[in-house]
Amino acid sequence: MYILGIESSCDETAAAVVEDGRKLISNVVATSVAEQALYGGVVPEIASRRHIESISGVVQAALDQAKLTPADLDGVAVTFAPGLIGAVLVGVNFAKGLAYAAKKPLVPVHHLRGHIAALYLTHPDLEPPFLCLVASGGHSHIVQVLDYTHYHVLGRTVDDAAGEAFDKVARTLGLGYPGGPAISKAAREGDPHAYKLPAPHVEGPYNVSFSGLKTAVLNAVNQAQMKGEALNVADMAASFERRIDEILAEKLLAAAKDTGAGTLALAGGVAANGLLRCLVNEGAQKLGARLCLPEMKFCGDNGAMIAAQGYYELRAGNLAGLDLNGLATLPIDYNGPA
Ligand code: KG4
Ligand code: ZN
Repeated sequence: MYILGIESSCDETAAAVVEDGRKLISNVVATSVAEQALYGGVVPEIASRRHIESISGVVQAALDQAKLTPADLDGVAVTFAPGLIGAVLVGVNFAKGLAYAAKKPLVPVHHLRGHIAALYLTHPDLEPPFLCLVASGGHSHIVQVLDYTHYHVLGRTVDDAAGEAFDKVARTLGLGYPGGPAISKAAREGDPHAYKLPAPHVEGPYNVSFSGLKTAVLNAVNQAQMKGEALNVADMAASFERRIDEILAEKLLAAAKDTGAGTLALAGGVAANGLLRCLVNEGAQKLGARLCLPEMKFCGDNGAMIAAQGYYELRAGNLAGLDLNGLATLPIDYNGPA
């Protein structure tokens, strides 16, 4: 089965064709990240306008690379939630038009389910159940993936998402956008033990909180400025990266231990973080659990992950009509038709 996946929930306009949920046939990503970087973060209206301009060409390129026409597809999958609503609607509306014209099923895909499905492209033998940390610019969830379309959220952030914390701290340190890669790069030259950053207290065994950590960095920057001292940016980047990654890894590993999970996974933009991968890998080895990591190109937003999840949603009968709407928020464990 060939599924076309369309993704436009943030600043990537992406489309891909995936066969049977596992085999990548084509993958095209256009991004407005360079333009967004001028503003230090994603400006929703700019994102929507770039999607409108790019989407036809991106989808056409994905079909061309796959040497397929719309008639060859078995379904058109699209991110319909959650995300920047103006951005989401561009993809949803395009997918509707294509599904209607080609008389193909329209498959609504939850963005975070898509991030998890990126793992199926990298690990052909990975099957639920497994325990996954999904960490992106908008979400940080510890999720039990019960089967391909059922999830149980064990923990989540009570304030900022992990990627958002990386982005905000990078901005405070003058490191630019997107913050995750910028912090990792600066951290390579720094001492992760130079600054003592707090371990935020949060209720619920697997919940996380990053706003205290973000404020601690801001306070250190302000104090250094008031004293006329130079803050060591590399040391702070390294200290922050280590602290946030330790928190994420600790929570995932605690959840793994308590639930007896045999397979662990990372997903989402923050899953590209090298130190996080390392810490979780060490912990998984100690627990004797298997760890599955997504390929780097599937950590950030892409159409392949939407096509992969679309295959499983289609198989489960989760289809949408041409009245499908986009949603800015929706829990990953929503039930029933979109
Ligand atoms: O999943 P994603 O591409 O988009 C959303 O769904 O939000 O995630 C983007 C987030 C950004 O906040 C970015 O700073 C973060 O992922 N990110 C990273 C790294 N690469 C991207 N965070 C930490 N380390 C990285 N290497
Ligand atoms: Zn994402």
